[in-house]
Amino acid sequence: MSGVQLEVLFTPGDIDSAVARLAREIRKDYRSKNPVLLGVLKGCFVFMADLVRALDIPLEIEFMSLSSYGQGRIESSGKIQVIQGLRRSVRGRHVVVVEDIVDTGITGDFVLRYLRRRRPASVRVCALFDKGARRRVDVPIDYLGLSVPDRFVVGYGLDYDERFRYLSGLYCLKEDG
Ligand code: PRP
Repeated sequence: MSGVQLEVLFTPGDIDSAVARLAREIRKDYRSKNPVLLGVLKGCFVFMADLVRALDIPLEIEFMSLSSYGQGRIESSGKIQVIQGLRRSVRGRHVVVVEDIVDTGITGDFVLRYLRRRRPASVRVCALFDKGARRRVDVPIDYLGLSVPDRFVVGYGLDYDERFRYLSGLYCLKEDG
């Protein structure tokens, strides 16, 4: 762990409250729609697990695996790699894209374009964290959890070079000077 210090940004309690609120909003809109919740791996895995249990309505879960940050990078490369695409049709389905964080927006924009080609009945975006200061591509966030400052953040599924995903809170990463 040498060379990296963490500073708490949101406690597990802060995150639980945000997830519960998002679940209430989504439940109200999708209770009888049997939506497809589409998670963008890997970062979404913790959020998805908590969100679907808080939602407690009939739904289906799918995942895509994308990457925009190469190994060891703390900046998006700007290029999306599809590690694994959708394995089932979403034609005619109500899809909610579940993102841990929208940063530049490049990933979210890519996913929305990818989905629209597959003719879903509707698509909305749920993002737990929004780093709006870094947006390069507009992504409409229909269900937003918490805004984060323009700092590199880890925990609750988010990593720095695959580290820290397991943490229950959200932390800013500080490099030693
Ligand atoms: C992160 C995060 C989002 C994306 C957001 O994924 O999970 O999917 O970046 O960034 P953007 O708005 O700038 O595109 P990452 O590419 O780091 O892969 P990972 O989820 O596997 O860690």
